[in-house]
Amino acid sequence: VTSTLRRLRLAVLPTPLVEASRLAAALGLPGPLFIKRDDLTGFAVAGNKARPLEALLTEATEQKADVIVTGGAPGSNFVQAATAAAAYAGLRCVLVLAGTGEAAAPPHPNLAAAQAWGADVRWTGDEARLSVDSALPKVADELARAGLRPYVIARGGSTVTGALGYHAAVTEVLDQLPAGMHPTVVVGCGSGGTLAGLVAGSVAHRRALRLVGASVSRPVEEADGRVLTLARGVALRRGDPIPEPSDVVVVDARGPGHALPSAAGDRAAALALQHAGLVLDPVYTAKALAALPEVVLDGPAVFWHTGGLLDAVADWMVRPNQAVGWS
Ligand SMILES: Cc1ncc(COP(=O)(O)O)c(C=O)c1O
Repeated sequence: VTSTLRRLRLAVLPTPLVEASRLAAALGLPGPLFIKRDDLTGFAVAGNKARPLEALLTEATEQKADVIVTGGAPGSNFVQAATAAAAYAGLRCVLVLAGTGEAAAPPHPNLAAAQAWGADVRWTGDEARLSVDSALPKVADELARAGLRPYVIARGGSTVTGALGYHAAVTEVLDQLPAGMHPTVVVGCGSGGTLAGLVAGSVAHRRALRLVGASVSRPVEEADGRVLTLARGVALRRGDPIPEPSDVVVVDARGPGHALPSAAGDRAAALALQHAGLVLDPVYTAKALAALPEVVLDGPAVFWHTGGLLDAVADWMVRPNQAVGWS
């Protein structure tokens, strides 16, 4: 059945691809460095989450849903972006957040934004992010019993539907790169949908990109498995060649732990600001950029900037005296 609905457009595409030669030199890279500016997707403060949300909200609308149900940690970039997307599409948004809600004052800027944009927030009572996964279907049932039509989105928006957004981004970046260039592409990896879409897209383009995910929250084997399953789901859905295990390369970029700043990340963030004018966040993008010199041993590189602006703001509030690292 062909959809009669037009795909919901959130992101302003293509996002820029810019060369950063001073940053390449500062990081000691062997070749040119390009930055894919998905911090500039142009929808609310969504960063990389604008692409998956286009497909997810389109599907929700096709299913005649009237409320989005999703969740995560209170500081999640995804829940903030999902709330904005739901508001834009005219749907209600219920967020199921890990914890008790008694934690930080002031709240994380992602939570503050979601609440400002009308999210109805429920707390799981358990700090573990896994508690969200079991609570989502229960909240959806409750909403359905009250006569609503919920559309549930797994944490991070990393479903096959969501990951389709990054499949299309491969065509976009290949159009922007010099013809015939096969760069190493480094991207932060959390729930895995971004990398999975890129892997499926690259495999469909005869493996034009050498992709490396910098895992910031999950052990490498777990991230690997999730990404391969999702990438295969995307390929199946599209009728593309199926990715192999060797197509998924993930390195451990967790440092001291998820959402905790790392010394290497702080240094990378300082270099990115000083040499390319980029704002990185300590949870995802700074750790991903810090991993880049280890994985790019020759040839050109692309750093896929995924956003995370409000995590940077949260960090400035908690660590106000963190120097930019002049030396
Ligand atoms: C700023 C930022 N970068 C990277 C990622 C990782 O994307 P994914 O969850 O699709 O692996 C996220 C996910 O929340 C994010 O917010």
